Amino acid sequence: MALDERKGVWKSGKGKGRHTPKGRQYEDQALQEVQVLLGPQPRERDLLIEFLHLIKDEYGHLSAAHLRALAEEMRLSMAEIYEVASFYAHFDVVKEGETPPPALTIRVCDSLSCELAGAANLQKALQDGLDPSQVRVLRAPCMGRCDTAPVLELGHNHIDHATVEAVERAIAAQATHPIIPDYETLSEYQQNGGYRALQELRQSGDWEALQDKVLASGLRGLGGAGFPSGKKWGFVRANEGPRYLAVNGDEGEPGTFKDRYYLERMPHLFLEGMLMAAWAVEAEKAFIYMRDEYPAVLKILADEIAALEAAGLVPAGYIDLRRGAGAYICGEESAMIESIEGKRGMPRHRPPFVAQVGIFGRPTLVHNVETLHWVCRIAREGPQILSSVEKNGRTGLRSYSVSGRVQNPGVYLLPAGSTITDIIAASGGMAQGHAFKAYQPGGPSSGLLPASMNDIPLDFDTLQPHGSFIGSAAVVVLSDQDRARDAALNMLRFFEDESCGQCTPCRVGCEKAVKLMQSESWDQPLLGELCTAMQDASICGLGQAAPNPILMTMKHFSDEI
Ligand SMILES: Cc1cc2nc3c(=O)[nH]c(=O)nc-3n(C[C@H](O)[C@H](O)[C@H](O)COP(=O)(O)O)c2cc1C
Ligand code: SF4
Ligand code: FES
Repeated sequence: MALDERKGVWKSGKGKGRHTPKGRQYEDQALQEVQVLLGPQPRERDLLIEFLHLIKDEYGHLSAAHLRALAEEMRLSMAEIYEVASFYAHFDVVKEGETPPPALTIRVCDSLSCELAGAANLQKALQDGLDPSQVRVLRAPCMGRCDTAPVLELGHNHIDHATVEAVERAIAAQATHPIIPDYETLSEYQQNGGYRALQELRQSGDWEALQDKVLASGLRGLGGAGFPSGKKWGFVRANEGPRYLAVNGDEGEPGTFKDRYYLERMPHLFLEGMLMAAWAVEAEKAFIYMRDEYPAVLKILADEIAALEAAGLVPAGYIDLRRGAGAYICGEESAMIESIEGKRGMPRHRPPFVAQVGIFGRPTLVHNVETLHWVCRIAREGPQILSSVEKNGRTGLRSYSVSGRVQNPGVYLLPAGSTITDIIAASGGMAQGHAFKAYQPGGPSSGLLPASMNDIPLDFDTLQPHGSFIGSAAVVVLSDQDRARDAALNMLRFFEDESCGQCTPCRVGCEKAVKLMQSESWDQPLLGELCTAMQDASICGLGQAAPNPILMTMKHFSDEI
């Protein structure tokens, strides 16, 4: 159908409008290519990011012609398409006349644990040694593999303990696809009693009885905010349906890799927990928002969701797996919801809270992956699996992601009252030749504490008096060979890169802080003022917590600045 025959699309209400959209016009070939890629899928706005992925996967980048054709196909303005495509780090928008990137991209992680393991030298060696017309070397934030630092992604193949030689070997072997680890499949999980508890709940369960169990266990949100999980279900249910469930699988806080750890080993504990929570709030649909940095997890989930559908455990299409596109801020729940709706990941103002107004304006239950893993275990094994564990006056278990200068980095499931001393001991002690100096208790948002503060239980609420918090329990250990000021600068660089730019205190504050922190001697009064403005006036947790590494370096490591 010719454009001008599509009534009321580009025309004004009176029928006197334009025959074509404003700006550049689409090319027939590009439109056909886009139509083939999209196939029979509905041209719905919320699928925009999925469609951008399809184009990028096929052509390696997003050309102006394809974006224009996509705008035409989705009946969206070019500005709407462009603002979304250019927001996400994994989309390469190539304007007319620009050279597309080479076929192969290497992303070298430059977040703290990888920096400690020599990422800067690795990146330089790769840039110097590889032909830029064939391979592009970029820096990238944490890939959730901090236990095997330094890490890089070659195409979609993550190379752990990366070296130039390992990269050369992988390029020669064209090893650019993700390696899928061995994991517990649906049939194996069912042999161990999996999905029986869900089926019992669906047949004769009482959602409040499950909520009571979750409350009795003491489970709190493991995405970082620590909100009591059962309570949240009540808030969501208090709002009239239809309701949705959204799983936060963004895991972007540098140093965190616990969700990946569980998903790559036992995905069904999470999936069953998710379906239990969805049942409890009578969710119409469950969205899983999974970060693009986890291609193996994306494959595992796609396969296992298909297996669940084939087994009749969920209706086809009930679980909607969405792929992020390289934006840390999409871990903030309202930004994640924006992204699920196919928009830029910009946090929303609150109230209203997402439990009231979430995906498509409907009440939405948002949970972290690991929280749902525990929902399932609590339902199957009873609340005492968490509530019976006591240590240092704290109750429960915590999955600490440990990296940095320890002997055996990894995920350690320990009592929630564990101190850094316990965590280092569980990780095999300090790495050889390193003496304990400082630690990041819960991602860069939590800042840095000195080794002398080694007797604090690392749990929700225990770190606030020290200007910190446990967040996602991403512990990075620093040694006498590291400078706290360098670690703090690394953290602020991360926030500068990842600020969504919506509010000035965060956007400009992070940038300004990075400049000030590079000076040999810090202008502490000015940095202090900047931190106050960021804490007081930023819209979301990113800008509010970004000053923590600065403030804690000034407080505990003043000899370095
Ligand atoms: C800047 C920022 C980034 C966040 N990133 C994540 C994340 O990657 N994964 C996550 O589960 N929660 C993240 N959160 C917390 C979520 O907003 C939300 O509290 C959580 O997903 C709720 O699930 P839970 O109650 O099960 O923890 C982030 C919050 C902020 C402010
Ligand atoms: S605080 Fe930063 S990340 Fe959050 S909304 Fe403002 S600019 Fe965006
Ligand atoms: S993978 Fe590099 S810091 Fe996490």
